[in-house]
Amino acid sequence: MQRIPFYRPSVGQDEIDEVVATLKGGWLTTGPKTKQFESEFGAYIRQRHSVAVNSCTAALHLALEAIGVQRDEGVLVPTMTFAATAEVVRYFGARPVLVDCRQDDFNLDVADAERRIAVEHAAGRRVVAIMPVHYGGQIGDVDGVRRLATRHGLKVIEDAAHCCPAYCWDDGMASAEGLGIDNSSVGATARVGTGRTDSFAPPPAESGDGVRPGGWRSVGADADISCYSFYANKTITTGEGGMACTNHDAYADRMRIMSLHGISRDAWKRFTAEGSWYYEIIAPGFKYNLTDIASAIGIHQVRKADRLHRMRMALAAQYQARLADLEEILLPTARPDRVHSWHLFPIRLRPEKARIERVELIAELQRRGIGTSVHWLPLHMHPYYRETYGYKPEDYPIAAGLYPGLVTLPLYPDMGEDAVDRVCSNLKELVGGG
Ligand SMILES: Cc1ncc(COP(=O)(O)O)c(C=O)c1O
Repeated sequence: MQRIPFYRPSVGQDEIDEVVATLKGGWLTTGPKTKQFESEFGAYIRQRHSVAVNSCTAALHLALEAIGVQRDEGVLVPTMTFAATAEVVRYFGARPVLVDCRQDDFNLDVADAERRIAVEHAAGRRVVAIMPVHYGGQIGDVDGVRRLATRHGLKVIEDAAHCCPAYCWDDGMASAEGLGIDNSSVGATARVGTGRTDSFAPPPAESGDGVRPGGWRSVGADADISCYSFYANKTITTGEGGMACTNHDAYADRMRIMSLHGISRDAWKRFTAEGSWYYEIIAPGFKYNLTDIASAIGIHQVRKADRLHRMRMALAAQYQARLADLEEILLPTARPDRVHSWHLFPIRLRPEKARIERVELIAELQRRGIGTSVHWLPLHMHPYYRETYGYKPEDYPIAAGLYPGLVTLPLYPDMGEDAVDRVCSNLKELVGGG
């Protein structure tokens, strides 16, 4: 029986040919392919500037550096996230102020963020930024975050690691139908659509502000800086890689310089024909640049991003349809005013109904050749954050309550319908005995 891994990247002949051409071309590190990847990715995500780096973690680090985070300052970070979002705050000796999540989409709860700011202010501590994470690829409460940021003078750094692509509707007046996407089959509850049935197509490149015709905003449109991951399991991949995107010239300049040793502009060109041997170090930067070998993969991945996205949406819809009547689990919520990337398909086991515990379920699926994962043990329950900041599980009741039931099912474009069916039938048998 063939194993169904948790993920498998969709890399084809185009990527292979481009990597081979790059290797033969003799320019392996940051160069023309990376410039091309930056420009194509920026056009796709609707951001004026894109800085390619070797991970999303590096992008997040550069973003915080660019906005000038200082030691002991507070940065709001959801507790329901991966290690990277908070660790980069610690790189500055700054303080990750953890925030609880919402029950429905597991995204940052703005009301809780407001309460955490009040606690920080009462203790005489400054809070300077917020880092929303769009869990699994569904954009969170970006309007609420923007209002909060305006009230408190915060910079917004979006951790959009899961979101290539993802969209949100401006005012809740329409559904995903405006993009030719039918969200109804993937769990949307209310639809007030524009009724357009044209096929899914990116907005014109010249709009440049992240706003799609009809009011759809691309991920990152509400952020000062947004950061993307091209790790092997992400919606598009370069093996390892990331991108920091912004519409602000000054942030882009700073991130570009700091991504390559703090060397003055276009450091990568110093070995090219038009480059100069002379350079100046203006700050102690980092070594975060992306290689042309990786960018050769990225160029083709971004060109395929819409197709890969449609495949993910179809498989997510199939999961939703097959599992809709399984009362032992809760399915992920897909909001009608969002276009989900479907990077992740997290279900929740209902302990009062299921006849198997989560740990056993994961182990048994593994024995049956089905890979799963858990996103995530909330940060405040990890030893480092628990011990450093004295957090108790109940300090973040929603995240702590969600965690014991979370299981992420495999979902990747080339998975195929038969594999989804196999996951569903095994799941049904194990949780319900049926
Ligand atoms: C929410 C989130 N942020 C950041 C990262 C870090 O991405 P990278 O591995 O590209 O540094 C991940 C990786 O899985 C993630 O899930």
